[in-house]
This record gives sequence, C-alpha cells and structure tokens, in this order.
Amino acid sequence: MKILQLLASQLSNPRGMIGSAILGPMWNRRNAALNDFTLAQLNPHENEQVLEVGFGGGYLLGRLLSVVTKGWVVGVDVSRAMAFNGQVNFHEAICKRQLALCLGRAEALPFADEQFTSVCSVNSIFYWDEALRGLVEIFRVLRSPGKLVLTFTAKIDLEKKWFIPYGVKPYSGEELKAMLETAGFSQCKMERGEDRHREFFCLMGWK
Ligand SMILES: C[S@@+](CC[C@H](N)C(=O)[O-])C[C@H]1O[C@@H](n2cnc3c(N)ncnc32)[C@H](O)[C@@H]1O
Repeated sequence: MKILQLLASQLSNPRGMIGSAILGPMWNRRNAALNDFTLAQLNPHENEQVLEVGFGGGYLLGRLLSVVTKGWVVGVDVSRAMAFNGQVNFHEAICKRQLALCLGRAEALPFADEQFTSVCSVNSIFYWDEALRGLVEIFRVLRSPGKLVLTFTAKIDLEKKWFIPYGVKPYSGEELKAMLETAGFSQCKMERGEDRHREFFCLMGWK
C-alpha cells in the first residue's frame, strides 16, 4: 500500500533518479502521439510566445523549439527533477534565450498577466490539486487573442490505471470543456485521437 502510494506520488511530482532517468524518457516515448497531436492543433507561428504547463520529459518542448524559432518557449513544471533534466537537455536553447524553464504549479503560475500567445498542456491536468484554478491561471497569462490546447487521456482508459486511487482525478472531455468555459475560454471545441495505448481528447479554447 505504502509502496504504491510512493510510486503514485512520483507520477504527480517526479523526484530523483526515478523521475529523471525513468519517468521523463518513458513519458517522451509513450505520450509522443498526444504531444504531436497537440502541436498540430496549436500550429504555432515562428514568432509566438508559447507556454507548456507540466512539460515532463520535454518531448513537446523540443518539438515547439523546432517551430518557434523567432519567438520564445517557456515550460513550467512542479517537479525539480523534470526542471533539472530540461536544463541539461535544452542547455543550448536556454543559453540562446529561446527557452526558459520554471519551477511552479499550474494553480499559481509564476508569470505576469498576458505574457503568452498560446498555452498547451498534455496529460498533466489530472494531477493538479485544483484544475479550475489552473485553467483560470492559464486564462490570466494568455494574451487576447490567445489559444489554449489541452490534451488528456480519455477517462475510460485512465480509470483502468493502478494509480487512480492515489489522488489522480480522471476527467471526462465534457467536464473539462465546461471547466474551460467557466474559466473564461470561448469557442471551445474538442477533437478525439487514439494511439496503441489509449483514446485521448484535445480541447481547444480561446481568450
Ligand atoms: C504524466 S506527466 C506528462 C508530461 C508531458 N506533458 C508528456 O505529455 O509526456 C505530468 C507532468 O505534469 C507535472 N505536474 C503535475 N502536477 C502539476 C502542477 N500542479 N503544475 C504543473 N505541473 C504539474 C508533473 O511533474 C509531470 O511532469
């Protein structure tokens, strides 16, 4: 029981070697389809200011950096291990000021209002203590017009996972769409995707 709890807490806030050597690379492989789908929906221009919330192993940061060559990319994650990994893996982009990585929570983003033209987050929201608070924060740091792309494993697949009893909150697409609207987003729409691991949804909303 205690061991499962400990392992589950690694998923919401990876620490030490388990976080950097195992979870980051594993997420980069297993979540590649969700992140590719997210990038396609985000479709950023080369000069955008993009924030990724809960960047984990950094797969999407790498993809964003190859497109956003004249703007900048910022990643925020609650995990010191993920932030440290990112500092090492993206050293060059950080030195060129193309990328900044911050330690922080979605629910209290460490940024001033209206800093970003788009925000994305993949398979992170079900670990947030307060999902609505995080969405309100994202709305706050977005410029207008600005776009949020939020991608997540379908509730039906997530509910089968062993770590669900340990504080992970599976949301349906409809629940999250309603939350986006409560947070202030408009023109919200949802796309569905799947890979060999799961079904997933991608929600988009505008400020
Ligand atoms: C399952 S991983 C997904 C990582 C990556 N987005 C991907 O698709 O592979 C979830 C990430 O969200 C981060 N996270 C969890 N709670 C968070 C919060 N409240 N605010 C910001 N990041 C959070 C975790 O540290 C972890 O890196």
